Amino acid sequence: MLKVVVCVSGGGTNLQAIIDAVANGGITNTEIVRVISNNRNAYALKRAENAGIDALCVSPKEYADREAFNEALLEALQEKEPDLIVLAGFLVVLPEQIIHTYRNRIINIHPSLIPSFCGKGFYGLTVHEKALEKGVKVTGATVHFVDEGTDTGKIILQKAVNVEDGDTPEILQKRVMEQAEWVILPQAINMIANNKITSDIN
Ligand code: GAR
Repeated sequence: MLKVVVCVSGGGTNLQAIIDAVANGGITNTEIVRVISNNRNAYALKRAENAGIDALCVSPKEYADREAFNEALLEALQEKEPDLIVLAGFLVVLPEQIIHTYRNRIINIHPSLIPSFCGKGFYGLTVHEKALEKGVKVTGATVHFVDEGTDTGKIILQKAVNVEDGDTPEILQKRVMEQAEWVILPQAINMIANNKITSDIN
């Protein structure tokens, strides 16, 4: 049984896709043992509670400094002894100690086809604004392992999504979520849970 901790910051639609996939058999051999949010008001925490999953807020606002926050975050992870940490819209840059402790056991979903529209400052709606500004005809989403860089770890899965005439960042974001993110994030977890993938891919 793969023990998974999911880290979130906002609405938690990717978390919901994972919860649903565990419930309906799209993901097997997997238990979500905790959801951690850095934001107390994240609706994602409510989604976890509704599903009967341990839900915890570790907010930097509630610690004296960054070091104390980083330590609390590491503890909140370690307490549950996860086999995999899933960053599902987690807008905190992970401290190196966590990346070292969980080398090749942290994955992230990013709402573009890496290496386009990624790196520092590219998150959430901004990614889609930049894609529309550039005029790309195809975008998508990427699941990748997390290393010390921003969106630089090994790619696990990608799925392309068409940009349509008249798209706004909001419309494009929704299409990328529905057609790509909510599909490939559960798929990647299921592959890891069933040993279909290792960090040595590529
Ligand atoms: C998702 O689109 C995810 O890909 C993005 O934040 C959103 C979270 O939505 N993540 C990043 O931009 C990371 N760089 P959700 O809370 O509804 O799952």
